[in-house]
Amino acid sequence: MPQPTIFQDADYLQNSQYKNSANLDARATLHRRFRTAVTPWPVWVFDHLQLQPDTAVLECGCGPGWLWRENLARIPSNCQITLTDLSSGMVAEAETALQNSDHDFRFQTANIQELPFPDDSFDVVIANHMLYHVPDLAAALREVRRVLKGDGRFIAATNGQNHLRELWQIGLELWPDANEWLQQLLAAEWSFSFGLENGTERLTAVFPHVSLFRYDDQLAVTEAEPILDFLFSTSFAGGNHQPAPEPIAQVRQKLAQQIARDGAIHITKDTGLFNCYGS
Ligand SMILES: C[S@@+](CC[C@H](N)C(=O)[O-])C[C@H]1O[C@@H](n2cnc3c(N)ncnc32)[C@H](O)[C@@H]1O
Repeated sequence: MPQPTIFQDADYLQNSQYKNSANLDARATLHRRFRTAVTPWPVWVFDHLQLQPDTAVLECGCGPGWLWRENLARIPSNCQITLTDLSSGMVAEAETALQNSDHDFRFQTANIQELPFPDDSFDVVIANHMLYHVPDLAAALREVRRVLKGDGRFIAATNGQNHLRELWQIGLELWPDANEWLQQLLAAEWSFSFGLENGTERLTAVFPHVSLFRYDDQLAVTEAEPILDFLFSTSFAGGNHQPAPEPIAQVRQKLAQQIARDGAIHITKDTGLFNCYGS
């Protein structure tokens, strides 16, 4: 089943969904506040980078730079870190937050399908929850391979089919007619173009050594409003971010009752990363 076009539409992504970090922040807030994992996601990802001093790093689709903002004190000395994103608004936010740090950060608006860097430029390349937005995944992976040094590593994080299932079920109540993607997703007829299930196959076409690591977490949500904020922020809403007031009020009431009865709404997470070695 193909992904919704809007999910990979460059114009929508850079000028609407990711014009700035507001939508992403609504989603990250739910994860930050209600995760059960002890280690926060950005710290867990950073651990897998295993950065050494004097490393040249490229992040593609960096968003507002949270990976680096949350791990500033742990960055080894003399690393050169280049942050790129399709959205100039995201790059500007990352730059504002990081430009005065002690580390050598560089910032550039760039599409992963056409990276503006010479061959063999980086020791580590990162693509954290962004490859499913890329229309030509094969081109993106070729570009990553090209700019990586021969012994370089590629870290690619994404979600699996079961990610946030209970949340999408709530989404269906908000957009009962409008959202055939959600119905397909919940019926397992829809999958990410780059997900935990198919990622190994896609990556081994380019990188001979690929290992998958899963992040062990779920959400125990004790407030209704962050769930609604999350759903209104998504591409699954198809640009129709605000449903009619009546379904919103009904869903809000139902969520509040469920929380009062059960103590929390439990939401499955299915997320992780691939660690790829170039040669
Ligand atoms: C889900 S956000 C993840 C942001 C960040 N990596 C994080 O995990 O906080 C996806 C990001 O990928 C960017 N993006 C989408 N398509 C891209 C492309 N073709 N090239 C580079 N960045 C892209 C978006 O603008 C957005 O900032």
